[in-house]
Amino acid sequence: MLAALAASDAPVSGEAIAESLGLSRAAVGKHVDALQREGCDIRVLKGTGYQLMALPGEAVPAGITPKLHSPFWVEVEGGPSTESTNDDAKALAEKGAPEGTLVVASQQTGGRGRLGRTWVSLPGGAYASFVLRPPVAVADVASLALAIAVGVATGIERLGVAAAIKWPNDVLVDSEKVAGVLLEMSTEADSVLWVVAGIGLNVLAPEERFAGAAYLGDRLPDLTPATACAAVLDSVAESYAAWVEGGWPALREEYSRLDALAGREVVVRDANGVVRAKGRAAGTDDSGRLLVDGGGRVTAVASGEVTLGTVLT
Ligand code: BTN
Repeated sequence: MLAALAASDAPVSGEAIAESLGLSRAAVGKHVDALQREGCDIRVLKGTGYQLMALPGEAVPAGITPKLHSPFWVEVEGGPSTESTNDDAKALAEKGAPEGTLVVASQQTGGRGRLGRTWVSLPGGAYASFVLRPPVAVADVASLALAIAVGVATGIERLGVAAAIKWPNDVLVDSEKVAGVLLEMSTEADSVLWVVAGIGLNVLAPEERFAGAAYLGDRLPDLTPATACAAVLDSVAESYAAWVEGGWPALREEYSRLDALAGREVVVRDANGVVRAKGRAAGTDDSGRLLVDGGGRVTAVASGEVTLGTVLT
């Protein structure tokens, strides 16, 4: 429906849309209403048809779908507001949704971050989750969040803003967090049934800014959440394809270019706050584990929270 309207600069008749999509005229009218509710500016010209004047700038399906170019995205769901796009994508995955099914929202009322944290998801941001069915063993999923972070950072760079990655999944602009990645998965024995990857992207700054957060709109004043989200998602589709093909080694060089920790003194703590490694960050191994050089003894860390600088423990 949206594609039929977006393909034409002139009004399109309701009959033509109904015929091409195999819908009734009443159903076409309902679809138009739904698109208008999502923020599409559609002119209804009595006796002539419908003309799409503008797409929504918010991160809603009608704003993002026409801007996605990768064939990876097979279905786009969502709307202006939901509790958590990860929860929505997980429900779809459980029902058998194929890889490349995407859920987007311009606001979340119960957004979740890593380590059980809340991801405050105000309007002006982009919140996207998608279903993956990677053909790998459970143990090999460990580097997937990092592969997605590479896609997010590369997508931001394609928009014209320099980005970096703070292992394992924070994407930074000017050393401040602009995006985060949350992975959840379902397994059976050693097989991965599905992975849902969620991305929270800061685009337009809210009135009250969060300390330590970066907003793409500060660097690109004309950028809309929909454009930012689509660019990032298309780039993620590429990094995911590279990862499926060649595992983490296929992305390691690109990661090295984006690595915010390289050569810096770091402390890595586990989920309970216990220090697991400290020393100089030295890139990643073949599995995407962070290498920490503690004065000649290199530790490979699979997960944890990184802070910069040493601690007296
Ligand atoms: C992090 O802690 O850095 C990860 C944040 C991930 C937030 C995204 S927003 C879209 C998706 N839905 C959620 O509830 N969380 C993820």
